[in-house]
Amino acid sequence: MELLKKLTQTPSPSGNEDGIRDIIKSEVEKFADDVFTDALGSLIVHIKGNGKRAMICAHADEIGVMVTFIDEKGFLRFAPVGGLDKYCCLYQRVRFSNGAVGVVGYEEAIEDMKELKLSNMYIDIGAKNKEEAEKIVSIGDMAVFSGDMETAGDHIISKALDNRIGVYILIDVIKHIKNSPYDLYFVFSSQEEVGLRGAKGAGFDVNPDIALAVDVTDTGDTPNCKRMAVKMGDGACIKVMDKSVICSKSVRDCLTDVAEGKDIKVQYEVLDCGGTDAGAMQLTRGGVLTGAVSVPTRYIHTPSEMVNINDVNECIRLIGAFLEKNMFGEQL
Ligand code: CO
Ligand code: ZN
Repeated sequence: MELLKKLTQTPSPSGNEDGIRDIIKSEVEKFADDVFTDALGSLIVHIKGNGKRAMICAHADEIGVMVTFIDEKGFLRFAPVGGLDKYCCLYQRVRFSNGAVGVVGYEEAIEDMKELKLSNMYIDIGAKNKEEAEKIVSIGDMAVFSGDMETAGDHIISKALDNRIGVYILIDVIKHIKNSPYDLYFVFSSQEEVGLRGAKGAGFDVNPDIALAVDVTDTGDTPNCKRMAVKMGDGACIKVMDKSVICSKSVRDCLTDVAEGKDIKVQYEVLDCGGTDAGAMQLTRGGVLTGAVSVPTRYIHTPSEMVNINDVNECIRLIGAFLEKNMFGEQL
């Protein structure tokens, strides 16, 4: 849990993944044949094998805000970086990479929540005026939301579990993988939250025969939520579809087979909004057999995302078992 705490609390807004990359690198280095960072900022961890190339991808970035304007009184205006929910921004704390903290305030009394606009919000960093503010932040600086990691029963609550939980799962898989029939490329991709950008570049470079994304997904088990057949505590999700991808049937079937063989608890996920790196990897070059494993997560893109620890463990077991079975076995 100490590692997950470190991963969630290290700021890593899209395009600024340096800090998280260093932590991942130090965790996996001794288990890998090669570790390198590409031009877009994705960390690629190669564990050599003689078989087909498998690319397993978890994005390492998180949503945040970017400073666009500093007014005379020292208040900051900002643009969203990734899918920021305007309702959830209000009166949250944000943290810049230099440690500066601010509060998101609203410029007029809120009468109708429906009228809420990001453009009417500002960040208050406690500066007296523009000059003082400019000593602390510059135009283009990014900040992420604060949200400590805590536990509640079998659940973990924190900011940035999207997708540090996926990063955590892949680090664990890297540490324990033995006997894989594949040439393995684990990719901790950059800039997923702004449009699957890191996975696109890394996918072309790795040129995989098979690809798997690991990310969070919504649940349909909270009061009055929309209907979705995913429940916290019901195990790892095998993705069928989201807005970015229809997962390859052969990969889905292989995931189902290994889950049955090892008694791993799984459920099937159809997400009618949002995308994942699976979408970018599937469209690499002439197309790639692609699947995804998701962690059921409540309150995604808020400072209090929640996952179930048993689901996390089932994801680790499922991905480990999947990578130890040769999906192309019969064809070779
Ligand atoms: Co996200
Ligand atoms: Zn994500």
